[in-house]
Amino acid sequence: MNILIVGGGGREHAIAAALAKSPKVDKLYCAPGNGGISALAECFPVKATDIDGMVELAKKLSPDYVFVAPDDPLVMGMVDRMEAEGFKTFGPRANAAILEGSKSFSKGLMKKYGIPTAAYEVFTDEDKAVEYIKSQNSYPAVIKADGLALGKGVIIAKDLEEAKAAIHSMLVDGKFGKSGSEIVIEEFMDGTEVTVLAFTDGKTVKPMISSMDHKRACDNDEGLNTGGMGTIAPNPLYTPEIAAECMEKIFLPTIRAMSAEGRPFKGCLYFGLMLTKNGAKVVEYNCRFGDPETQVVLPLLVTDLAEIMEAVAEERLGELEIKWSSKSCACIVMASGGYPEKYETGKPINGLDDNGQCAGAYVYHAGTKLENGKYLTAGGRVLGVTATGDDLRAALDGAYKAVGSISFEKAHYRHDIGKKAL
Ligand code: AMP
Ligand code: GLY
Repeated sequence: MNILIVGGGGREHAIAAALAKSPKVDKLYCAPGNGGISALAECFPVKATDIDGMVELAKKLSPDYVFVAPDDPLVMGMVDRMEAEGFKTFGPRANAAILEGSKSFSKGLMKKYGIPTAAYEVFTDEDKAVEYIKSQNSYPAVIKADGLALGKGVIIAKDLEEAKAAIHSMLVDGKFGKSGSEIVIEEFMDGTEVTVLAFTDGKTVKPMISSMDHKRACDNDEGLNTGGMGTIAPNPLYTPEIAAECMEKIFLPTIRAMSAEGRPFKGCLYFGLMLTKNGAKVVEYNCRFGDPETQVVLPLLVTDLAEIMEAVAEERLGELEIKWSSKSCACIVMASGGYPEKYETGKPINGLDDNGQCAGAYVYHAGTKLENGKYLTAGGRVLGVTATGDDLRAALDGAYKAVGSISFEKAHYRHDIGKKAL
């Protein structure tokens, strides 16, 4: 089987590594890919959002499957276009990817089907939004741009002034463009966050091992929100009792609701959950694998990912038993100094071998390029240094030891990944 993976970050590297292990897979292609992925897959310089360009590439390569990993092409309908050209795909169609593409859609779905989430209202008018914030008089208040905003479209306002500024920046100044022309204002949920990725073919849902992301840039959850600075799996706070509750109240109802709406979800569905004192609630849905959650979840997958991909496409996931390792996994993101704001690129990375790897860990490349045999930084998040171990402590020790042997100018990483879970 030949597979074209769409995307070019750490998540796609982890997907490529999992597929490369499969005896069913002959050849991997990736577009645009990156320096590290090129050790596993032939990479092509087509942007993930260039739907026409990707369809042209697929026609040239004739892959048996196209695996669409990032949110934008999914929301833009890349799967629909690939299917129309006769390609088998992994990933939801646009009418299901809307679960991530529009927060007002996903909140409306949860309300209609009684899926636990924060109470909310949707606004397009500044005055009405401010009036609502005042009437609620409850802080922090959570203000979200409706559409995709690179994980930055959520503002937790600590008082009325901050809330007003957030509303104004989205609805009037157009801070997130069209994504913020409609906003969701919702109740603040207090609790612990857990990520659960799940395979689903629209009928059956099979949750993967749980994980914990670390979204803030600096230690002790300080600094700006990022795409994610590190992850661990499994998440020990997600007990079997909570898992059973989530299956009954969140996972199955979501899959059934999407099918009932004529929007069957096929692919990987990301449940961002808050464990509150009133039970688990949905913070957000993503229509794809998480980044950097994938980097700690897929290394623990024992079953062949290519086999799961086929079962999802053929809607026979229910027949497949998916096995997981009992080990733990930890991923430390090494970022460019300044990320998530301004940063420099093109810095040589020391400590990697010819394949972009380092002893004792698996190095997933997020933003690197290979130039004259040397790996250079090429993005905000540069590497996801990942290790497995018999327990979380061992996994973290392995990952941090490897981080200590890798360096580039102004490298920045968190020192407390997984600390809350130890
Ligand atoms: P989202 O993009 O919706 O996942 O939001 C980004 C982050 O903001 C989440 O991972 C949470 O940490 C936080 N967040 C979003 N919504 C809420 C909420 N209603 N209550 C508390 N925290 C939230
Ligand atoms: N790590 C969060 C995300 O993938 O959206």
